[in-house]
Amino acid sequence: MTTSQVSFTRQDSYSAQYYFSITHTDAYWKEEASHLTWMRPFEKIKETSFSPGEVDIRWFNGGKLNVSENCLDRHLKTRSDQAAIIWESDDGKETRTLSYSELLNQVCLFASALLELGIRKGDTVTLYMPMVPETAIAILACARIGAVHNVIFAGFSSDALAERMADAGSKLVITANEGLRGGKIIPLKTYVDRARQYCRETLGHEVRQTIVLKRTDSKTAWEPGIDHWWHELMIPTAPVVEPVAMDAEDPLFILYTSGSTGKAKGLVHTTAGYLVYAHSTFRFLAGDSRIFWCTADVGWITGHTYMLYAPLCAGLTTVMYEGIPGSPSADRLATIIDRHNVDMLYTAPTLIRSLMSAGNAALGNSHRTSLRRLGTVGEPINPEAWRWYRDVFGNGRCPVIDTWWQTETGGIMIAPVSGENKPGAAATPLFGIRADIVDDEGHPVPPMTRGNLVIRDSWPGQARTIYGDHARFEETYFSTVPGCYFTGDGAWQDEDGHFWISGRVDDVLNVSGHRLGTAEIESAITSHPAVCEVAVVGQPHPVKGESVYAFVTLMNGQKVSDSLSTELRVRVREKIGALAVPEVIHWTPYLPKTRSGKILRRVLRKLAAGETRDLGDLSSLADQEGLSAFLQQK
Ligand code: WT7
Repeated sequence: MTTSQVSFTRQDSYSAQYYFSITHTDAYWKEEASHLTWMRPFEKIKETSFSPGEVDIRWFNGGKLNVSENCLDRHLKTRSDQAAIIWESDDGKETRTLSYSELLNQVCLFASALLELGIRKGDTVTLYMPMVPETAIAILACARIGAVHNVIFAGFSSDALAERMADAGSKLVITANEGLRGGKIIPLKTYVDRARQYCRETLGHEVRQTIVLKRTDSKTAWEPGIDHWWHELMIPTAPVVEPVAMDAEDPLFILYTSGSTGKAKGLVHTTAGYLVYAHSTFRFLAGDSRIFWCTADVGWITGHTYMLYAPLCAGLTTVMYEGIPGSPSADRLATIIDRHNVDMLYTAPTLIRSLMSAGNAALGNSHRTSLRRLGTVGEPINPEAWRWYRDVFGNGRCPVIDTWWQTETGGIMIAPVSGENKPGAAATPLFGIRADIVDDEGHPVPPMTRGNLVIRDSWPGQARTIYGDHARFEETYFSTVPGCYFTGDGAWQDEDGHFWISGRVDDVLNVSGHRLGTAEIESAITSHPAVCEVAVVGQPHPVKGESVYAFVTLMNGQKVSDSLSTELRVRVREKIGALAVPEVIHWTPYLPKTRSGKILRRVLRKLAAGETRDLGDLSSLADQEGLSAFLQQK
């Protein structure tokens, strides 16, 4: 090695390694895969096609492994007594620590219970659970026996739960009698009962059994033979359940996310590629931290990959918190960090902004001296929040790692791995990731120009399909720019090649880091008989990033009223969940449309943002006078 090679700057060494990773893809991923425990070695590394009509993604074919073995059994020799999960209750009065051996034991007992109830490899199991250790236990037990888990965020309504359970063909649902969040009681079992009924009566799907964790002492409706108490199923003398040898491409889970059109999409992630990718990307995120706290709910991909699978696969301690990080007081998050000596925090910009606005109250009497790294995910982070996070919350001692990725990508894709860190930039693609920015015709754009973020080649953590609808998968992600994975995000690159993500280019909203489809919200509102037409757009919001803004026109003869706006909000709450309820309902007799009748959302987005002056190109607008009248009325 020459002297000049030895004195690489970090950026240079990143560039060299990055170049190697995308030109020697097989060699790079073979090495990454070697960090897992395989039951049978793989024969092929990458067999993938992004060609329109033939999209097919397979990694590590021929290999066999089990995800729960990688997350549990293989650590027993070295860290059997080490904490795998530290859990803290909603009210902060209770904490539980499960060592790796205790967690494995619980997972085996629950796996045995699932087998007793007739669940087998390939069956889908839905979870509608609070953030409690049992949720991790149930997920890992599914992975152990090869059942496909389908976690639905417990903030979704019973209708949304039912639609997802039916779509995924779920045989069983695991829930708690009640959940606790921010001091509120959530009657999860009641919602599950309603969802099962809706599944059966309206959607023609029977979810045959439920397992219910007794989280509180309240009574719940009970159907013998269908409902089973968690604690009654955990039989200490149950035989040990060995991990099932799964094919690399056997599905590990289905996770629903919102798109710009139609109903939620069940993205399918498979066994080997997902785990290799989770494990490989975690190194860049967590560095050498030991006690890792990802605040995401397990109902989202961040909770799957970085609250659960990656930290356990790497043998760390993962912190799990039942409640809301800013509740009951703003210093809750900081207190938990001190109490459990958290050395890495991974959270969302919306939370950072809300803590920042609380000021000193967010810090309370905490010191946060255990922290060594800070991460953010979910939406673009504004430089002020980034600086506050690093300088105030992190005492100026910890790097901030902004990570861009999606439910579809399985793990982090872009993050400041080159060592250079600019507030607001997700920065550089991880090794093996061929990110690029193209215009609407698919041509690469020069630096400093905004375009569409695409990925030019496959990576192991990529979702393989939309459950039951591969055509939609191809159409959504591979038809816009042929040969590329289309992310749906806008971005630009600066002169150093660093990526800056500017947000969605499609009709998907990001409210407090939660992804919402405008089409779903619109269809919930139009289901009301008084409503004629609806257009939902995002409105910039100082803390949430975006909030839901609905333009609503009414049927002839219908009158605007407070009770009607309440009814519309209730519809959204019932159809989707509280997270999708519009902040603003804007009654209007007029919606700007093209001559072909398409609503000009671009114009509505500007109107919602209060930008009435520069509405852009209006040449396609059908009714110019209508718009003038609308603007005057505002
Ligand atoms: C969308 C994906 C897996 C992350 C959690 C959300 C936005 C995510 C960033 C970031 C700017 C970001 C994108 C993306 N997003 N991370 N660091 N900077 N935007 O997963 O629900 O699938 O949402 O979240 O718009 O497409 P998701």
